[in-house]
Amino acid sequence: MSTAAARILGAPLDRLEGEAKVRGRALYAAEHPVDKPVHAHLVQSQIARGRITTIDATAALDEPGVLDVVTHHNAPELASTDDAELAVLQSPQVGYRGQPIAVVLAESSEIARAAAGLVRIEYEQDEHDADLDADRDDLVPADDDLDQGELDAALAGSVTAHDAVYTVPQEHHIAMEPHATTAAWSEGELTVYDSTQGVHWVRDALTELFGVDAENVHVVAPHVGGGFGSKGPAHAHLVAAVLAAQRVEPRPVKLVLTRRQVFPVVGHRAATIQRVRLGADSSGRLTAIGHDVIAQDARLKSFPELAGKPTRTMYAAPNRRITHRLAQLDLPVPTWMRAPGECPGMYALETAMDEMAIACGLDPIEFRILNEPETDPDTGLPYSSRNLVACLREGARRFGWADRDPAPGARRDDEWLVGTGVAASTYPVNSQPGTQATIQARPDGRYRVLLGAVDIGTGAWTALTQIAADALGADVDRVVLSIGDTDLPWASGAGGSTGITCWGSAIVDAARRLRMELPDGEPVPEEGVVVTGRMPHNPHQGTYAMHSFGAQFAEVRVNVDTGEVRVPRMLGIFAAGRIVNAKTGASQLMGGMTMGMSMALHEEAHVDPRYGHVINRDMAQYHVAACADVGDIEVDWIDEDDPYVNPMGTKGIGEIGICGTAAAIDNAVHHATGVRVRDLPITPDKLV
Ligand code: MOS
Repeated sequence: MSTAAARILGAPLDRLEGEAKVRGRALYAAEHPVDKPVHAHLVQSQIARGRITTIDATAALDEPGVLDVVTHHNAPELASTDDAELAVLQSPQVGYRGQPIAVVLAESSEIARAAAGLVRIEYEQDEHDADLDADRDDLVPADDDLDQGELDAALAGSVTAHDAVYTVPQEHHIAMEPHATTAAWSEGELTVYDSTQGVHWVRDALTELFGVDAENVHVVAPHVGGGFGSKGPAHAHLVAAVLAAQRVEPRPVKLVLTRRQVFPVVGHRAATIQRVRLGADSSGRLTAIGHDVIAQDARLKSFPELAGKPTRTMYAAPNRRITHRLAQLDLPVPTWMRAPGECPGMYALETAMDEMAIACGLDPIEFRILNEPETDPDTGLPYSSRNLVACLREGARRFGWADRDPAPGARRDDEWLVGTGVAASTYPVNSQPGTQATIQARPDGRYRVLLGAVDIGTGAWTALTQIAADALGADVDRVVLSIGDTDLPWASGAGGSTGITCWGSAIVDAARRLRMELPDGEPVPEEGVVVTGRMPHNPHQGTYAMHSFGAQFAEVRVNVDTGEVRVPRMLGIFAAGRIVNAKTGASQLMGGMTMGMSMALHEEAHVDPRYGHVINRDMAQYHVAACADVGDIEVDWIDEDDPYVNPMGTKGIGEIGICGTAAAIDNAVHHATGVRVRDLPITPDKLV
């Protein structure tokens, strides 16, 4: 490794595609120039469950500029209808309100949208069930229950006990770029520009749905305006667009969802009702941990929100019980949303830990440190690295925790009550198999690095270029990285904070192969050298438990008259392995914390069980944190050298930033006011 390269990993490089984005040259899914596009608009079901009896498109088809109305009567047949969420326009059955049931195709998006309102539909309604209620008797188990020791007996015998229910509402991703697809068929070949977190994921889904060979499906996504999980798996609108494109071949079809259409179609974070029970001995050591999760789910297709997962690894106790039960309702299908499971689970657990610390008469940081496990309570394995204590201590020092008066409601500044709170966070080091990367070495000393990764706004493009430069011993300006296209080697998608692990490991492997071809100092021959590497199996999997950790601190001000909560200050200290790019890495963590603050104070989809739909399905009514809500957010990490996770020593940073944030704010609100909110979001009505 050259000395120049030694400084590449960790360098705060500006994002390579930043200028193209700022200047508007970066193309998103609906912006790629295609020949004579047909514009599509979805028609969505108005009932939660039942079947379409009449679908009359006459008036829509009479509109000038309308080309076609695609319904279950005339849509091409899918090769596979196994996935009930994706099998759109195949039958008159309706599984949720907002399900795509027709696509209007027209010469402009305005005509298509207007004509969509003219399609007349009659239904035969079945009774539907959209009420999430903890007392249901038809809850379905998900995941294996964890049952160790005797939880109930341990709780009954504990010196201090806590038992409370925490709820997190249905939440939506609100990616800045609404979901969009441009799809074109030509003689059995399909080209799709899609707003997706994984081009090969989309290709593989379309291959199965349409029964075409992978080499005949080309998916392109150079730039994506956020996903947060909603652009991971394929959703119904993609299938609708590709079906519609078959009807107007060879013209391309452009389908852009409106913000309101996004809500039911692309998934959401399932609401959870979580009972957390903790028991401790006289010293404050946990003797019992119970976490029982009831999660909203869809009858059409199950997606279990496993909020008890992080509790398996966070703290040890001889008696533990962790369970998940699903309420399968006639509602849209939930999906991954930033730290699915961990995010709502850490809210409940880390709020309960704060309540328990107070009940034990202990400082919340000292209480957590007292209960720090030696080995992973879930697997019994040693951690590859676990630096939660270091995060808590460093955070406490930087945040000024030592000066804190623990009494709630003790600090007042004019009409504002002021409080501080802390929470821990964790997220696993996940990985997915199969990613490949190709490196082309050129005689002029330049390298092309090729793989089907996707940068959804995370900075992955830049970080992967740094990883390649480091592995090749080259300056970053000699490395040109190509991503976002299924013509490139197969890559897993951006999800589960696995991007750098999977894509980076494949690049490092390709660089190793290149060195075997071209031992040190040997010049690259005239015709260049091409090698392909793949993400190797991690030999330490099964020997070590691998997780990131963090400590979240928040200061809040609560207005005594209005109950308004402001967050002037947050600090996150993380132990997440090596940070490849100090600038984009900090942005990732800061973005996660901002989203966590948004979750704490604003985000809540109101489901009307009478109709099975979200009432507030736009950004005027579904509130997310805006710039004015965000105070001073400081992010830092401790140096962590973990040789077991992957060749780069990275652990993933896309999701840990949101974990624990809402609990830190909840705990700060309690410190400020003495009021404990256990039901997100923390709105003024819950405080005054
Ligand atoms: Mo993320 S929810 O793993 O895309």
